[in-house]
Amino acid sequence: MQFRLFSNHIELAHSYWKSLLQAGDIVIDATCGNGHDSLYLAKLGTKLYLLDIQQAALDQTMKRLSEQAEQVYPYLTCHSRFPEGIEKASVSLIVYNLGYLPGGDKTLTTQTDTTLLSLENALQLVKPGGAISITCYPGHPEGKREEDAITQWAAQLNPFEWNCCHHRWLNSSKAPSLLLLQRRSAFVRL
Ligand SMILES: C[S@@+](CC[C@H](N)C(=O)[O-])C[C@H]1O[C@@H](n2cnc3c(N)ncnc32)[C@H](O)[C@@H]1O
Repeated sequence: MQFRLFSNHIELAHSYWKSLLQAGDIVIDATCGNGHDSLYLAKLGTKLYLLDIQQAALDQTMKRLSEQAEQVYPYLTCHSRFPEGIEKASVSLIVYNLGYLPGGDKTLTTQTDTTLLSLENALQLVKPGGAISITCYPGHPEGKREEDAITQWAAQLNPFEWNCCHHRWLNSSKAPSLLLLQRRSAFVRL
């Protein structure tokens, strides 16, 4: 059988998360949606904070996690307002899967301004060695605008503090893309 490295952005993201995380790590799913990503993260034994602006999304995610919900904390909030109890530099991974709830109201989509605000706040929460994972959907105009704004924002982060990498499907221009930002463990000059 052929070894499959990845076939889509979800598998690519999940393979990074798995290599980064250990049981007990603090993780935030900032846009939990239908809970597919949350389930993957919960199965890794993480302490998982779920955020979404839609109660229906939180309900659906909690239902999906029913057997894995021991260390799961749902919050009905915009991701630009992280729960207050989360300490600075304590989080191993913050996950954003941008856009709208599949099968739901397409007007309840992530917005560039609040996403950028959230990302600024996220920088404070991630611990050294931890990461921020952002899936963008450039296949529609608002998603493309959001991706452009985020990549421009990420490109100006201090390279001594953050490694920033953007994965795009070169042979499929409308496919989702994956941005990974990893906080460096130490301030090492290149
Ligand atoms: C593409 S879906 C996420 C899919 C999810 N990762 C999954 O595995 O099912 C995007 C979600 O972001 C939520 N959302 C939109 N704006 C938000 C905001 N400002 N803060 C938090 N969640 C938001 C939507 O309600 C929607 O559920």
